[in-house]
Amino acid sequence: MSNPFHPSYGVLPRIFLGREGIIRDFIYGLENGPGDPNRSTAITGARGTGKTVILKEIENEVLKIGWISVYSLMKVDLLEDIFDEMKRKCKEHIQPDAKRRITGISIGQFAVNWENIDSGNRWETKMYNLLMQLTEKDIGVVFEIDEITGNSESLRRFASFFQKHISNFKIAFIMAGIPHQIDSVFTDKVISFLRRSRLKQLGLLSMSESKSLIRKTFALSHKNITEEAIGLLAAKSGGFPYLIQLLGYEVWESSDSAIDISEAKVGIKRAEIYIGSSLIELILQDLSLMDKELIYALAKMNTPAGVSDLMAKTRFDRNKLNQYRRRLVREGIIHSPERGYVDFVIPYMKEYLQRDL
Ligand SMILES: Nc1ncnc2c1ncn2[C@@H]1O[C@H](COP(=O)(O)OP(=O)(O)O)[C@@H](O)[C@H]1O
Ligand SMILES: [Mg+2]
Repeated sequence: MSNPFHPSYGVLPRIFLGREGIIRDFIYGLENGPGDPNRSTAITGARGTGKTVILKEIENEVLKIGWISVYSLMKVDLLEDIFDEMKRKCKEHIQPDAKRRITGISIGQFAVNWENIDSGNRWETKMYNLLMQLTEKDIGVVFEIDEITGNSESLRRFASFFQKHISNFKIAFIMAGIPHQIDSVFTDKVISFLRRSRLKQLGLLSMSESKSLIRKTFALSHKNITEEAIGLLAAKSGGFPYLIQLLGYEVWESSDSAIDISEAKVGIKRAEIYIGSSLIELILQDLSLMDKELIYALAKMNTPAGVSDLMAKTRFDRNKLNQYRRRLVREGIIHSPERGYVDFVIPYMKEYLQRDL
């Protein structure tokens, strides 16, 4: 029996929970037709909140309604990557003489005429020719771009193409990225139409969602866990999706069959060793020096900390402080539990930063 928790990035969890609304809206946009605003969607949130797994889940969902999805990570050769991946997906799911394919959807008999497509040399021409053939068979394509960054020539070219053809073809676009990168896409003047994308901000799971996720994931294995232990795990994770997987994984590992509160504590202790390197360090990499100055100052204080007290601990004037405070709130790193106060969002982040002080 293997561990039902998967503390790694981009791996669809055995139990996926709490993001149903986002997926439903996007699928609705596909069914509703061109012009539906959900056909261009942006998912944003800190690392480990579950952006990539939403893209993966959408990949499975769209197949059920006769669409294919094309997943790419943002990189220099983005356009070629999108085209290659699309070709691969067509070959995998659309076969000339199979009425039903492995995915269980049926698009009927269909073969793509590749010669016709590859003869085009511009990316736009090849893409147009391929989409034309798919359209004739009523097959839609969801373009997914993950870890998006603004200010990219290839993204601009992709976006212009998408905008130009959004009403001719069955196409939709969903991007995922951390908040300031999504912002830089939204403020890019060349691709200003992307600003109208539906923005979905990923927060923490609620306490009851977290408990339900932990309970259902344990139920996939032969190990039992008490409600009290589930409550402790949920509380320690703070509803942060990656942490639920990491804590759950170690708690499952550290006990043979029945897990009560004392066993849960042992597992949580083991998990704590990895939180810094597998989560907090990655989040820090995405922050600027000024962001870090602010959060290191905050880590030295009793939290929630008053904003004026925090200002006294940094070199920032009120304007700068407010600017960075807002930025870090957007990034999902800090929040205001009440007016004039700030605290950390991600469990263990404060403790981890304190170790560097
Ligand atoms: N809604 C969810 N339910 C259960 N597990 C989740 C959920 N969202 C994310 N996870 C888990 O959290 C981890 C990080 O998810 P990932 O999508 O890679 O984060 P991101 O792309 O935002 O950095 C993965 O192990 C994933 O299985
Ligand atoms: Mg990701």
